[in-house]
Amino acid sequence: MTATSQAATQSTGRPIILTGDRPTGPLHLGHYVGSLKSRVELQETHEQYVLLADTQAMTDNAHDPDKVRRNVLEVALDYLAVGIDPTKTTITVQSHLPALAELTLMYLNFVTVARLERNPTIKEEIQARGFGRDIPAGFLCYPAAQAADITGFKAKVVPVGEDQAPLIEQTNEIVRRINHQVGRDVLPECQALIPKHGRLPGVDGKAKMSKSMGNAISLGASPEQVKAAVHSMYTDPNHLKVSDPGEVEGNVVFTYLDAFDPNKEEVEELKAHYRRGGLGDMVLKRRVEGILQNLLAPIRERREELAKNPDYVFDLLRDGTSKARAITQQTLDEVRDALGMFAFPKR
Ligand code: TRP
Repeated sequence: MTATSQAATQSTGRPIILTGDRPTGPLHLGHYVGSLKSRVELQETHEQYVLLADTQAMTDNAHDPDKVRRNVLEVALDYLAVGIDPTKTTITVQSHLPALAELTLMYLNFVTVARLERNPTIKEEIQARGFGRDIPAGFLCYPAAQAADITGFKAKVVPVGEDQAPLIEQTNEIVRRINHQVGRDVLPECQALIPKHGRLPGVDGKAKMSKSMGNAISLGASPEQVKAAVHSMYTDPNHLKVSDPGEVEGNVVFTYLDAFDPNKEEVEELKAHYRRGGLGDMVLKRRVEGILQNLLAPIRERREELAKNPDYVFDLLRDGTSKARAITQQTLDEVRDALGMFAFPKR
């Protein structure tokens, strides 16, 4: 495969799909279960674009652009290592798509500040980040930017976590407002694709796996790190002796078996055994560890191989971004034209 082979997806007639990640840290198992795995499948049936959303990452990381810049490569390595195939999926860098920034500015006129402040995703994130009253304007407005991302690629399907569903709704509101004003469907509405399995908890049992919370297993984790993380997993705190009956609900070891163990029947038997008593945590942890080591070993190997040749990865990103630049510029031209903005007369 050569770096220039990316672009094979042009006008396949397949439904267009856009996903993205803020490059603020390497990706972890939560990302794998929640989205990366399905991207590897969706690239077979869809025209798929994946956005390294570094501009969006800046909306709450403007004090640390260095972190965002470094993680563009890290996240791209994660993508390739899990099997996102650059001949099937276009990987692109948001900050190098100026048409998206222009669309954002335009869309901000089709949404009110009150509506942005009411957006449940934003409300929750503002709280989680402890912004108080000091909310960066770019952060408050990023739903309009995400609408620009989605419509810039004319995506019909947008896989996002449940917590991001309000962003899709807000995108469609902007789309409908513009379409209504211009009297035709210059932009398509899109649909959220929410993962069925919900989100993977952290190894400590907290609802969300996150690098900053220190409860994540990153895709590039060493075998020792995987082992340590699995053995620290939160189980049933009242399950003191092997012979005690144990709780399965909220027991992270079982959540991970549900997420990763292909043998569902055996997992059900293990749950029954654990509830009855007589099954120790160590046996279960060893089982989880084995499964995760097998899953992560080839990913780690590919990641290390690719990391030796960053120029190859940068070439892929350059190609994907230049293809995306043309697509998003085309959308911007169509929107400007539909709205009837000033254009220089032909000479
Ligand atoms: N908001 C997404 C996240 O935090 C990243 C993202 C940016 C995105 N633009 C997008 C996702 C467009 C889907 C479509 O992970």
